[in-house]
Amino acid sequence: MEVALLLSFMTYDSSSRIVAELTQWIDSAAPGEKLPSSRSLVARFQASPVTVQKALSTLARRGLVESRPGVGTFVRAVRSIAPPDLSWQTAALSQREPAFTSSMAALQIASNDVFALHSGYPDPGLLPKDLVRTALNRMARTENSLRRAPTAGDGDLQSWFATELADGTSRHVSEPNPSDVTIIPGSQSGLASILRSVVGSGGSLVVESPTYWGLIAAARHSGVRLIPVPSGIDGPSPDVLDEAFERSGATAFYAQPNFANPTGAHWSPNLRADVLDLVRSRRAFLVEDDWAHDFGIDAVSQPLVADDADGHIIYIRSLTKSVSPALRVAAVVARGPARERIRTVVSAEAMYVSPILQAAALDVVTRPAWRTHLRSLGRQLRTRRDSLAAALRAEAPDLRLEQVPTGGLNLWVRLPLGIDVDEFVKAAADVNVLITGGADWFPAEAPAGFVRLNFAGPNPAGFTEAMRRLGEALAQLQAR
Ligand SMILES: Cc1ncc(COP(=O)(O)O)c(C=O)c1O
Repeated sequence: MEVALLLSFMTYDSSSRIVAELTQWIDSAAPGEKLPSSRSLVARFQASPVTVQKALSTLARRGLVESRPGVGTFVRAVRSIAPPDLSWQTAALSQREPAFTSSMAALQIASNDVFALHSGYPDPGLLPKDLVRTALNRMARTENSLRRAPTAGDGDLQSWFATELADGTSRHVSEPNPSDVTIIPGSQSGLASILRSVVGSGGSLVVESPTYWGLIAAARHSGVRLIPVPSGIDGPSPDVLDEAFERSGATAFYAQPNFANPTGAHWSPNLRADVLDLVRSRRAFLVEDDWAHDFGIDAVSQPLVADDADGHIIYIRSLTKSVSPALRVAAVVARGPARERIRTVVSAEAMYVSPILQAAALDVVTRPAWRTHLRSLGRQLRTRRDSLAAALRAEAPDLRLEQVPTGGLNLWVRLPLGIDVDEFVKAAADVNVLITGGADWFPAEAPAGFVRLNFAGPNPAGFTEAMRRLGEALAQLQAR
């Protein structure tokens, strides 16, 4: 047995050696030149005929030589590299998670000749371009371009996130401490880290339904079971939420109390108070995703964490949509053991966030021009939102806008009964209007057909034409 093993190893070893030496020779040989005969290769490498044959087959597979039966083996005239054989990965990787289709499409970058209402990110024209470019140039010339950062993040940026929350903190609650802030490379990775550290594989997480598709994707990848509670323009019902906690034994709830993606819901003061009481009485966490903090239109985002005295709320806020998608900088605020667990996972996964990005993001948000930019952004979003909503009502009245959101970037629109979401999304794409189907936002089956229209993308002047096309596409489907 051992001898056989040794022999097979020697065969492998000498076959690779022959391949390596012949490859070198082929590199300097003329196309069409004949290789030494198998017999002379056997003698030269002191290898068995099988080993030599194996080496020649490898060279042929790599497209370096070709054999002409009865004549010999020749350096290929046209050296084409054979396509890699990746079929082995099928067995190694086994079964996969179902892919998100329409929501992943939200990350696609569209060409200019389409009406792109599918994106999750604002058009570059809505970003503080000059501030970002100046900050990056400035930071490139400092030590920030050469150093590491602490796992928790750079102190000044931690302080900035904490101070932003302190402004809204109620009188009865101690202000968030900068040391409770962990800087992360974007909210998406932060959500995954929170799920892994606070819920864990096999654990349950209560979520609004619909909710952010990226959270659903992260939960699937972390083995977290989702417990959906219906939520719409007014947010979830506290009673139904309580039942979901009772039934599932979950100890965490993920929600977006401010300008939820996709519904646009902005919780009332009563609902905020009720949900906070509920998580307190259930001794549970609320993961508060304040994704649209900088996208208030008629209202401002009021994080619930500002009213949380005892560390029930794990708060997450990102700058990647409002400062620049190229600066992947966000923060998680958590207290107590939860903070430590999250930090451990963050350090295991990302180690730290690039200090040059942290410093550039901080530079942007601490300039007076940032406040001016946010005010102008709010006005632009209002104009865009109103013009898309008006165009929708005028050109495609059968598509029902449930509410005009007071912030965020999207309209959440209900399809008439009997219209299949995927067919509608495809029919829209056929007339060059890109929209996102709502199915991926539901952790289970969707109770009705929805689509999401983003009003922060390129070409707002084209909203009327885009809605006219949607109206026509819908009429055609209805006529079938
Ligand atoms: C609700 C919500 N949370 C988190 C994210 C992820 O944001 P980031 O770009 O910071 O990863 C998004 C992005 O679309 C989002 O809509």
